[in-house]
Amino acid sequence: MERILVTGGAGFIGSNFVHHLVDRTDAEVVVLDKMTYAASRDSIAGLPTDRVRLVEGDIADEAVVEPLAAEADAVVHYAAESHNDNSLADPAPFIRTNLVGTFTLLEAVRRHDVRFHHVSTDEVYGDLDLNDPKRFTEDTPYQPSSPYSASKAGSDHLVRAWVRSFGVRATISNCSNNYGPWQHVEKFIPRQITEVIDGRRPRVYGDGLNVRDWIHTEDHSSAVLAILERGRIGETYLIGADGERSNVDVVRAILRHFGRPEDDIEWVTDRAGHDRRYAIESGKLRHELDWQPRYADFDAGLTQTIEWYQQHQDWWRPAKAATEAKYAQKGQ
Ligand code: NAD
Ligand code: TYD
Repeated sequence: MERILVTGGAGFIGSNFVHHLVDRTDAEVVVLDKMTYAASRDSIAGLPTDRVRLVEGDIADEAVVEPLAAEADAVVHYAAESHNDNSLADPAPFIRTNLVGTFTLLEAVRRHDVRFHHVSTDEVYGDLDLNDPKRFTEDTPYQPSSPYSASKAGSDHLVRAWVRSFGVRATISNCSNNYGPWQHVEKFIPRQITEVIDGRRPRVYGDGLNVRDWIHTEDHSSAVLAILERGRIGETYLIGADGERSNVDVVRAILRHFGRPEDDIEWVTDRAGHDRRYAIESGKLRHELDWQPRYADFDAGLTQTIEWYQQHQDWWRPAKAATEAKYAQKGQ
């Protein structure tokens, strides 16, 4: 595989994958990114210029996508509007980027017969009860709850239809919640770490018992590369690292790290339609593609992430005040 187009490669997870490609393959990488509020040039700065090129543009713009797809051997598609809370405030960009953008890319890879990998989320499956022993599998029916997860579910369906109807050579992965360096401060873990660094209380929605299945972003990247290299065309693979934790447990671990009392929490307005629990059964990926997570210990990964945010205040501070102003308007 010589030239790989990574959409959304200046975002949190896409940028990690770009580093991964540079470190583990000989591929030339073209990043296509609209450079929205969620993108960061710093996250891919310093990479060799003969290996990585950034094109600023919109995946929903055919004139931008067409020439890039024509010269690519594979497209790995991360670009998305990615935050549930934003999708509740204004769903329109989610429909345009996640649905129209994915459609535009699919048409381009169809025209040029380019291998396509679609990066998606476990949130397409809706949620599980707290006391349900089940976890999501590749066979779980789709039941998305929010405009974000519905737009991602729709994009997954488009990919499947383009595989079946047009023979597009695509795979799909649905991953659980990611954490690690370079995640925007609007998201749960960076928001709470940076609130505590600023001497404020972490802000927990509802009763805090909602469970997310955390995976380090580097483990997500190694799984996507395994699927790109060895996955079966037309297949879906769930990606997870057995990292189930309630939100309040995560916040207590952050407070402990800073020597603050574990009940020093601000309980704020719950999210509308808030999914209760996500949990991934990733046996297919592990057995078929021989994949394993490196960050098996969530607490160690969390500590490393906290230290990264302590050391990179110049990076996240410019986004922090505006993010908190938006949350304050909603009582969150
Ligand atoms: P992010 O918001 O940090 O990054 C998204 C990137 O896409 C940004 O760089 C943004 O500028 C770019 N982008 C947005 N609209 C675009 C457009 N129209 N054209 C080109 N680029 C555009 O998101 P993330 O957390 O890195 O998520 C990346 C992908 O992984 C998404 O598809 C998301 O659904 C999926 N995913 C995320 C998680 C998670 O926990 N964050 C879990 C599973 C799957
Ligand atoms: P988030 O990072 O937005 O990811 P997702 O909605 O994709 O799971 O939120 C993770 C969990 O944390 C979710 O249950 C909502 C909750 N949450 C809070 O309790 N407080 C916050 O400030 C945020 C941003 C999220």
